Amino acid sequence: MRKVLVTGGAGFIGSNFVHYLLNKDSHAQIFNLDALTYAGNLANLAGLPDAQRHQFIEGDIADFDKVKELLRQQAIDTVIHFAAESHVDRSISGPTAFVQTNVNGTLNLLEAVRHVWVNEKLLPLEAVRFHHVSTDEVYGTLAPDDPAFAETTPYSPNSPYAASKAASDHLVRAYHHTYGLPITITNCSNNYGPYQFPEKLIPVIVLNALEGKPLPIYGDGQQIRDWLYVEDHCAAIHLVATQGQVGETYNIGGNTQPTNLEIVKQICAILDELRPDAQLTPREQLITYVKDRPGHDRRYAIDGRKIARELGWTPSESLATGLRKTIQWYLDNSEWLAGVRQKQEYQSWVKNNYQQRAASPSE
Ligand code: NAD
Ligand code: TYD
Repeated sequence: MRKVLVTGGAGFIGSNFVHYLLNKDSHAQIFNLDALTYAGNLANLAGLPDAQRHQFIEGDIADFDKVKELLRQQAIDTVIHFAAESHVDRSISGPTAFVQTNVNGTLNLLEAVRHVWVNEKLLPLEAVRFHHVSTDEVYGTLAPDDPAFAETTPYSPNSPYAASKAASDHLVRAYHHTYGLPITITNCSNNYGPYQFPEKLIPVIVLNALEGKPLPIYGDGQQIRDWLYVEDHCAAIHLVATQGQVGETYNIGGNTQPTNLEIVKQICAILDELRPDAQLTPREQLITYVKDRPGHDRRYAIDGRKIARELGWTPSESLATGLRKTIQWYLDNSEWLAGVRQKQEYQSWVKNNYQQRAASPSE
């Protein structure tokens, strides 16, 4: 891993990975291709360690010529593919963009890589790697007694987001089997941590709880997710991309599976301690049940035994330590937050999403 093309590196996990890799590997040179959609933010890349080893390129992964030229001119040997539309609720209100970026965009990236690595043989195939970052949501939903998702669990995606990620996983796998492209895939559970766009559960709750606004719980709040601190995810991706077996998939999880309601209560308790407020404490009183998400998956859980056994990776943060770090990060980064929240796109999403949910909480 020397010349690394990171796609979507101005988003939440991608930008954390850029910070992680610059710290971890003093030889890595990063080319960060990002279209700067509503979720991309150059402020996520401020203060990079050794910033001269990072170059930002604004562009779409669906632009074949741009990607091909980048691969060729820079002699890229590793692609770490994060770029995606990533929010389930947005995929319900507008699925088309998800197919465009997650399916067509990934296909285009694979085509460019095939062209330069397989056809033109710019570098020996043993020296290159295409790593695809995916989600546990491709496996669908679990009943309370079902075993956790393993790499052998059949795909059963339920949301347009999950379906588009499943399609992209299949394409990546097919490029390995058909063209011999050296790939690896990781399917990870829900991430949280610094730079997460404040429309996902954890930052929504932190910000609303700080400001004394209602804490919106979809449906009955008994849904279960397997939460992982983002830096742990970055470490796992790095390990798989450098030491994972070519052609293999690895599931990554946090080993911690609270209900949404439990996690919201934990956030409230931490904030009550860090920011006591006579009017708001206990912040649990702000919990408000709102209309559920259509087709809402009930339970996710990751069986992480393969990556632990083969690569020795297990998460280093617990939910308690990771949540505390995350909340402290949001408290310490009010300028970053203000920059994100002043954008029209953010404001209209929050207004539209929660207005229509508040209208009929019991449905
Ligand atoms: P994000 O929405 O925060 O960031 C996505 C980034 O991709 C943004 O910077 C955006 O500008 C960029 N992008 C979008 N379309 C693009 C395009 N056509 N061309 C170039 N750039 C484009 O997403 P995230 O939460 O950081 O997720 C990153 C990846 O990890 C995604 O592939 C997602 O499916 C996967 N993943 C996310 C989670 C999670 O909990 N967030 C969990 C598991 C897997
Ligand atoms: P989210 O952060 O959107 O991630 P995902 O849908 O990919 O799991 O949501 C996490 C869980 O929190 C999910 O069960 C939906 C729920 N949720 C709420 O209850 N209220 C909210 O305001 C949001 C954004 C999510």
